Amino acid sequence: MRTFFIAGNWKMNLIRESSVSLVRQLMETLTSVSGVDVAVCPPSVYLQEVGNTLRGSSLRLGAQNVSAAAEGAFTGEISCGMLKDVGCQYVILGHSERRTLYGETDAMVNEKLHAVLKAGLIPIVCVGETLAQREAGETQKVVREQCTGSLAGLTGEQMAKTVLAYEPVWAIGTGKTASPAQAEEVHADIRDLLSSQFGAAVANQVVIQYGGSVKADNAAELLGQPNIDGALVGGASLKADSFLAIVHAAAAIRK
Ligand code: 13P
Repeated sequence: MRTFFIAGNWKMNLIRESSVSLVRQLMETLTSVSGVDVAVCPPSVYLQEVGNTLRGSSLRLGAQNVSAAAEGAFTGEISCGMLKDVGCQYVILGHSERRTLYGETDAMVNEKLHAVLKAGLIPIVCVGETLAQREAGETQKVVREQCTGSLAGLTGEQMAKTVLAYEPVWAIGTGKTASPAQAEEVHADIRDLLSSQFGAAVANQVVIQYGGSVKADNAAELLGQPNIDGALVGGASLKADSFLAIVHAAAAIRK
């Protein structure tokens, strides 16, 4: 049985004081929530401070990106070892903003993925089509290609530990959400693909989050779909009320 996983991707938002204050508010309420894994992914400079704040609570820590290299002359980069050192459990990989703004390819995501798994961190691998691709009827092809390229070379055991996030690019930060049926169609197709590549037992263990304008008022319907196992939340994760409402929606469904 898959456990719901709700993660907040803060992107390049909040500063030290607002980060710590948000995390304190989340921790207070999360003591009474069970059956849902919850993580926050702050900007890297605040990982340590946020990690110190949430230590000992059920709230988990994730990073938004990582280098595939272990150490060395890579100016501006951060390694998996460094992320573990400050208490990270998760790393977001291949977010559409990194793919479009910073040229990350499936091959680069795949290289990072292997480094992350080797380090014992849990990757959250993002995939999703653009509006033009959806309108051209290419959603399935694009998402399958991204999955195949990004996940290349994984063992079944590694695949089962990897979290996927389907984030249609046209739904990110736009207020437009995929309808529950549109999202479920892609999630089910991803699980079919995983089943054909890794077997049904592995495919059934993989947590597939939906991301793209997830809010308090659409979370329950999205999370109610059979193949949607959580949410990767951007804007609504920056305020305790809106993020907790999504966590509560997941807790109420209790898959
Ligand atoms: P929004 O929830 O702001 O649309 O962002 C989604 C996202 O990109 C999470 O990674």
